[in-house]
Amino acid sequence: MAFELPPLPYAPDALEPHITAKQFEYHHGKHHQAYVTNLNKIVAENPELQDKSLEELIMLSAGKPDKAPIFNNAAQHWNHSFFWKCMKPQGGGALPAALEQRIVADFGSVEAFKEEFIKTGVGQFGSGWAWLVVEGGKLKITKTGNADLPLAHNQTALLTCDVWEHAYYIDYQNRRPDFLKAFLENMVNWDFAVENLGKAA
Ligand code: FE2
Repeated sequence: MAFELPPLPYAPDALEPHITAKQFEYHHGKHHQAYVTNLNKIVAENPELQDKSLEELIMLSAGKPDKAPIFNNAAQHWNHSFFWKCMKPQGGGALPAALEQRIVADFGSVEAFKEEFIKTGVGQFGSGWAWLVVEGGKLKITKTGNADLPLAHNQTALLTCDVWEHAYYIDYQNRRPDFLKAFLENMVNWDFAVENLGKAA
C-alpha cells in the first residue's frame, strides 16, 4: 500500500488570515506531497520496506546516516500529518481543564508555557519543529532539527508547530515569532493535545 497525502482537516482558507490558502497550497500541496512521493519511491525500490508501517520506517531508520532518505521522508510525512491536526478554525482560546492542570503543574502557568514554546520555536536554528511532548510522565517543550521527531526519542507528541521557513514564509516572511504567536493564540487545537495526552497515559 502506497502512502497517501492526507487531506487537510479543514478547508484551505479556513485558517485565514493566520494561514492563507496560498500558504497551504505550497506547504500541504507541494512540500508535504513531495515527502509522500519520495517515500513511496524509496519503498517501491526496496522490497524489504514494503510491509512496514510509517512508524516502523521511522524507527528502523532513526539515527542511521545510511538510511537518512527513508528517515527524512517518513518522519516529515508523520510530522506534517500530525501538524495539520494541531490546528483548527477558531483555534486557541481557553485550554480544556485537563490540559490546563498539567501545563500549570509542569510550567507554572499557561502564560509561562506559551512564552517558552515561542522562545523554543524561535531558538531552533534553521529548519525544524517546536513540540509539546510527554516524557516520563512529565510535559516538556522541545525542539528538533529538520525531520527529527519525539517518536525517535521515546517521547509522546502532544502538539507541534512547524518552524521550517516553508511553513510561514508566504504569510509572515521572516517573522517566525509572529507565526508562533498566531499558532498559539488563533489556530492551536487544544482538544487534539488532550486526545494525545490520553494516549500517553
Ligand atoms: Fe513543513
